[in-house]
Amino acid sequence: MATTSVQNIRRLYTMDPGRDGLGIVDNAAVVIDRGRVSWVGPTEAAPAADRVVDGTGLIGLPGLVDPHTHAVWAGSRADEFAQRLAGARYADILEAGGGILSTVAATREADAVQLREHARLRLDHMRSRGVTTVEVKSGYGLNPATELLMLEAAATEHHSIAVVRTFLGAHTVPREFRQNRTAYVEQIIEEQLPLCAPHADFVDVYCDRGAFDRDEAVAILSAGKALGLKVRAHAEQVSYTGIAEAAAKLGATALDHLEKIDEAGIAAMADAGTVAVLLPGAQLYLKDDAPPVEALREAGVPIAIGTDLNPGSSPVHDLWTAATLSTLISGLTMEEALLGITRHAAQALGLHDRGHLAIGAKGDIALFQPPPGEPASMESLLQHMGRPGAHVVLCSEVTD
Ligand code: NIG
Ligand code: FE
Repeated sequence: MATTSVQNIRRLYTMDPGRDGLGIVDNAAVVIDRGRVSWVGPTEAAPAADRVVDGTGLIGLPGLVDPHTHAVWAGSRADEFAQRLAGARYADILEAGGGILSTVAATREADAVQLREHARLRLDHMRSRGVTTVEVKSGYGLNPATELLMLEAAATEHHSIAVVRTFLGAHTVPREFRQNRTAYVEQIIEEQLPLCAPHADFVDVYCDRGAFDRDEAVAILSAGKALGLKVRAHAEQVSYTGIAEAAAKLGATALDHLEKIDEAGIAAMADAGTVAVLLPGAQLYLKDDAPPVEALREAGVPIAIGTDLNPGSSPVHDLWTAATLSTLISGLTMEEALLGITRHAAQALGLHDRGHLAIGAKGDIALFQPPPGEPASMESLLQHMGRPGAHVVLCSEVTD
């Protein structure tokens, strides 16, 4: 098997926790051997390799990780976008039977081929922007068969990037159970979870107005955990429920949104080593307040950033846009934003072999051309939204 050396990278942000800060190496080289990083350092000191990829003038990063998407869905919510621009509120639309429920109706109508093809187009676009690992949720089926279909459509083997799958049967209560929500929670625990758990890595719930309350959420997360799934939740987004504290105490790997989190929730996350996943796209589209970033930072909670790609609250396909928004509207520094889409995002998925470039890590490298006339630095990437795409160097492509 051939070794590959990616050389002359103008500025490499290794994100290696063993180095200072963001682990910057200028005029860097990375050697990949059998899919794993075997050497990182200055190009002039790099060992010989069978193949060379030239990174002259480019900015290098570990392949990006998007830790929160709903990338499998059918249909459109364009009509609701117009309603929301005219003043309708997201939670009111959901409580009136639209929102997530309108995407559920369209997704149930779709077949496996359509769901997979839609997801493929979305994930291909993400990859073109340097994302090499993405989390994808179910949650627009809300019945056993369609939840399973969504998880199957998301499977890594159908896509150009690595996929971590999350079961979200508890996204909201479907129409047919609106008069008997207890029976829906039972169906999730007794039918959906046993069917879907072998096809998922995480269990998630949307605990909020119009969705599930804290006790229901804890019951569902506990049942998923008992089946071996890692725990995460859409927590404290539109209204405060107390789920962040309860889910952290269950050992949640990550908790997402957090606009309304309180001190007890933050303390529980810090104690449990739970990662905060901020979703500035949803914050922007729903005109929500920023999460309490200063308090999360003070408590030492690692912060990741996701697109939350979905057809309603965050039709944001680009992780770089989410990162830039996190600095503009959520209060992150540029260093935090870059960590948030690399090392901390991988940590939010319970993955410790990516999101950084150090010996033994996955050989996913994303090379970026700075915008014309800009220096090869993170400032150029974060300041300019919609700049040129990435040249992604993947171990799977270069070591075969
Ligand atoms: O993360 N908040 C709940 N779930 C998604 C929204 C999904 C939708 O609106 O379709 C979110 O924002
Ligand atoms: Fe979400």
